[in-house]
Amino acid sequence: MDLVIKNGIVVSGAGEYRADVGVKDGRIAVIDGGGASGGGLRGVETVDASGLYVLPGAVDAHTHLQMPFGGTVSADSYEAGTRAAVCGGVTTVFDYAIQRKGKGIVRTVEERRALAEPGACADIAFHCAITDLGEGCALLDEFPKAADYGVSSFKCFMVYKKEGMMIDDGMLMRIMEKAGEAGILTNVHAENPDAIDARIAAFIASGKTSPWYHYLSRPEFVEAEAVKRAVHWAKALGAKLYIVHLACKEGVEEVARAKAEGYAVFAETCPQYLEFTSDVYKREDGRNFVCSPPMKGAESREALWRAVKAGVIDTVATDHCPFMQAEKDWGRDDFTKIPNGCAGIENLYPYMLSAANTGRISFSQAVRLCAETPAKLFGCPSKGSVTVGKDADIVLYDRARDFTVSVKNMHSDYDQTIWEGKPLKGYPVKTFLRGKLVYDNGNYVGVPGQGRYIKRSESGCL
Ligand code: URP
Ligand code: ZN
Ligand code: ZN
Repeated sequence: MDLVIKNGIVVSGAGEYRADVGVKDGRIAVIDGGGASGGGLRGVETVDASGLYVLPGAVDAHTHLQMPFGGTVSADSYEAGTRAAVCGGVTTVFDYAIQRKGKGIVRTVEERRALAEPGACADIAFHCAITDLGEGCALLDEFPKAADYGVSSFKCFMVYKKEGMMIDDGMLMRIMEKAGEAGILTNVHAENPDAIDARIAAFIASGKTSPWYHYLSRPEFVEAEAVKRAVHWAKALGAKLYIVHLACKEGVEEVARAKAEGYAVFAETCPQYLEFTSDVYKREDGRNFVCSPPMKGAESREALWRAVKAGVIDTVATDHCPFMQAEKDWGRDDFTKIPNGCAGIENLYPYMLSAANTGRISFSQAVRLCAETPAKLFGCPSKGSVTVGKDADIVLYDRARDFTVSVKNMHSDYDQTIWEGKPLKGYPVKTFLRGKLVYDNGNYVGVPGQGRYIKRSESGCL
């Protein structure tokens, strides 16, 4: 073996067991749980994982790295974002390549891939966010080619009308119909754009400009309406649907109903919706928490936790889209000028594992939500679990280590985080990417550029 990880406790989506893990040529070659042949694995390198959990590297299915947005570009480059990712135990990063008017899907992803690959510290995959179907909806004909290129999920923004990124219902229906034929999963950002724009206009006209009005311009019912609409179209068209960053109770209930009826409706939420409520927008630094959809009330937060535990939420991902303090400050006196988005890529796995370590969910649930399910759902068969034949993307996790998040101990390029001061119980101590050590006890120790593009297979199957 090239590497043997000895004496650890392997966690899978189904349970935990003590085993030695042997790695050869970047893949998991042997898992030796003892028994008759036990204890005999020999490696060029051996790591003693006594007292540690051996987890699959997480898959962050939702990030926006160096994305032009909100009058600037999100603060983490591909290198910084993926560096931070592996330091938080995320070994596969999904980025959203935003297709623009007149540009093809494969061309859009090729361009982002060219930006990402030279500095990638984690493996990287792309969803494409479709914003324009072109003359005569010509882009629909490119769907099979996109799937062949490994892009088997598209995002539709049901919002961002003024930003020119919105997909209307007619386009959404066309995309859903065609996507299914090509093995492509349709992801939606569900909020009602007209309701938002009308409410923003009314608030601004009456001088209501603090971040609290960001929340009030897109409250629970604004998101719920769009979730219900998207689910309606998915049911009517027999299409598979993935709702990104689900944040409201009514939306959770809608997804639960669709699942119970047997529809292929999947949902993602993010740590920020599990941790914070809309009260953050009343804080002096409320602008730093501005993202869309916004954090909701306590009832929604509790509903999300219940849904996480019950399996109604399939994945937890970050929507990592950080901005610098100076950029967030553009909106000090006008919430509409605040670039939307928050950091999270390095906090996802530690946050969910801390929830497991403190008994809120099980470790197996954390692994399912952050690694196994996103890998399966988005067509990455070599990722997401510590199993023979998979890539040796492995995280060693110390349950006994306490950690407090600060911008000072993160590995990104941003200079403020909504997670500042958050105490976590347990923390990753080592991350291996395809068998190579890339994070060690607080330090990035990999080589930028060692992350690879992942050509995905069909999405939407669990
Ligand atoms: O506020 C957010 N979420 N920014 C990133 C873009 C998006 O809507 O996912
Ligand atoms: Zn979104
Ligand atoms: Zn997003």
